[in-house]
Amino acid sequence: MTDVRVLSGKRVTLGVTGSIAAYKGVALASALHQAGAVVDVAMTLDAQRFVQPLSFQAITHRPVFADLWAPGMETDIAHVTLGRESELIVVAPATANMLAKLAHGLADDPVSVTALAARCPLVVAPAMDAGMFTHPATAANIATLRQRGVIVVDPEEGHLASGLTGLGRLASPETIVDRIRAALGAGGDLAGRRVLVTAGGTQEAIDPVRYITNHSSGRMGYAIAEAARDRGASVVLVTTPTSLRIPGGVACVAVRTALQMLDAITSQYARLDVLIMSAAVADFRVESEARHKIKRGETGLELRLVPNPDLLATTAELSVDSRPVRVGFAAETRDLLEQATQKLARKSLDLIVANDVGGDVFGSDSNEVTLLWAGGRHAALPRMLKTEVAEKVLDAVSGLLPRV
Ligand SMILES: Cc1cc2nc3c(=O)[nH]c(=O)nc-3n(C[C@H](O)[C@H](O)[C@H](O)COP(=O)(O)O)c2cc1C
Repeated sequence: MTDVRVLSGKRVTLGVTGSIAAYKGVALASALHQAGAVVDVAMTLDAQRFVQPLSFQAITHRPVFADLWAPGMETDIAHVTLGRESELIVVAPATANMLAKLAHGLADDPVSVTALAARCPLVVAPAMDAGMFTHPATAANIATLRQRGVIVVDPEEGHLASGLTGLGRLASPETIVDRIRAALGAGGDLAGRRVLVTAGGTQEAIDPVRYITNHSSGRMGYAIAEAARDRGASVVLVTTPTSLRIPGGVACVAVRTALQMLDAITSQYARLDVLIMSAAVADFRVESEARHKIKRGETGLELRLVPNPDLLATTAELSVDSRPVRVGFAAETRDLLEQATQKLARKSLDLIVANDVGGDVFGSDSNEVTLLWAGGRHAALPRMLKTEVAEKVLDAVSGLLPRV
């Protein structure tokens, strides 16, 4: 189990309704439970035709609220207690029938009655046949729910149980969890702040099919972007191509080269509260990219490399009304702290994350870093997951932001 800070210990109620996609609710319950949430499941009767409550019970280790009229009501009215104790309710999959009930305040099953009794954020993830989803009645119900502040996770286009292809397939568990995390973190310590994070290794083209790059996986930057979103920030992720999933609720700007990355940062810089440069930016690029694929020859190939601009130094010179908190990373294979201290001063940073890349850091889930602040303070952190390093970096950033 890997706890996600914003979900850890949170009371999340999952409402499951009578869609063919009810089985996917099991994967969602599992993802939430594994992220540290305390998950209660409420099911409609028709949901139980598709999946047994036992599946959810075994995964969440908690009883399932499957019967409005179960014995015990005299001492504890389940839907009232569950509604009051829930910090977030997510209905996934949500049938057309359930959307109608929620829009109109009907309350005659464990899911709708709990939602009506609760005052916490409500997330619904519709799943149904495309005809049902696009019907004006369903569209009107969804519009009513949105207007009331309900978070609607749009279904995806794809193969449907009917055999047809269309809009109506339940969003993936990852997408739904992203929306839940963002909703729970909305009032966090970075609420209202605009954070730009760079991630990945830049790609400097040699010819149309080849490029020079480095071992950066992008994991650290993606973890920071997700954690900042979970703390209420509005996040822009400037990323090179990676194998990672773009986190939901984050504005993504796709780039390849160092020059493109610089453009992306420059265009946002004046609006930023925080700039976190975790990408591995190439120091050099090929002087002139060949227009056509370079052919194999008998002789060797010489490439002339020219220096790329220093992104941090260049942005430090941009004139802005209020300068963002600036965070850099120093990936070194020797003299780590000395190199990082010099970089901190040279690039006008507020914080630098020093990172010994002599070992197996690239592509790994964990990292061992030292945080160095301008002014000389530093903190050596033990080896921890990159998701945990991300939280530590943001704790430090939060402490550096001017109070509003
Ligand atoms: C095999 C089968 C699959 C169904 N799949 C869906 C579905 O994906 N989405 C939906 O809105 N209704 C679906 N229905 C219809 C609902 O089950 C029906 O409207 C039911 O009354 C919903 O009850 P509930 O909202 O209380 O769970 C399906 C029905 C059957 C028989």
